[in-house]
Amino acid sequence: MRIDKLLSNSGLGSRSQVRQLIRAGHISLNGQVILDPATIIPPSDYAHILVRQQALSVKLSAHLLLNKPQGYLTATDDRRYPYVTQLLPQALQRLNPVPAGRLDRDAHGLLLLTTDGQLAHRLMSPRWHYPKTYLVTYEGEALTNQEVQLLAGGLQLQDLNCLPAVLEPLANRQARVTLTEGKYHQVKRMFAFIGRPVSDLCRITIGPFSLAGIEKPGSYRLLTREEQSRLYQDLSLQPAEL
Ligand code: URA
Repeated sequence: MRIDKLLSNSGLGSRSQVRQLIRAGHISLNGQVILDPATIIPPSDYAHILVRQQALSVKLSAHLLLNKPQGYLTATDDRRYPYVTQLLPQALQRLNPVPAGRLDRDAHGLLLLTTDGQLAHRLMSPRWHYPKTYLVTYEGEALTNQEVQLLAGGLQLQDLNCLPAVLEPLANRQARVTLTEGKYHQVKRMFAFIGRPVSDLCRITIGPFSLAGIEKPGSYRLLTREEQSRLYQDLSLQPAEL
């Protein structure tokens, strides 16, 4: 992000006031005076900025877990429906985090949002096998062993080729399903294939992350430093320098 945009987003003043401060030599970034308002801030978690010798530490990246409520779109903008980034405070919205994977509007549960596009891409790609577990409530008869094996073995549905899944039947027309891919309406389509419409769908885990601490729909938490490092390591990515 450009420094003038960052400083103005952080409340230092309008874009033109910030540019004047920069051109007059009042701003330094990571120890160096900068005079060009178009200077790009290098990737990092924080930018260390001096404004007229006053230290300002500005957060640049964010990785967070959100408990998506039903009725919200997994999106960063929409005219018709509420969308998930609206559940975040302004300070986090300004960093433009994107959802790494989607949940249908009527589905709920765990979403990971990140400002790192490459991280989001790997979390969604079947190549990286990052497991996601869903608690499925379905209608109709309880699943038979044969149906469990059919769903778990991988399905070829018209335009949708589903990789093998882990499927654990539970009491009360529920099942826990773990997938390493996230194709459009995948869980609903797998269950529809065996004549069991899904009446409720909740994502309960993404890799090692769960809804612990964010049980209330709409609540969120930032990943800890250790969780971030582990995630980057799991996906063979270099974290932004800290
Ligand atoms: N599968 C679905 O059918 N819907 C979701 O939201 C996620 C997985």
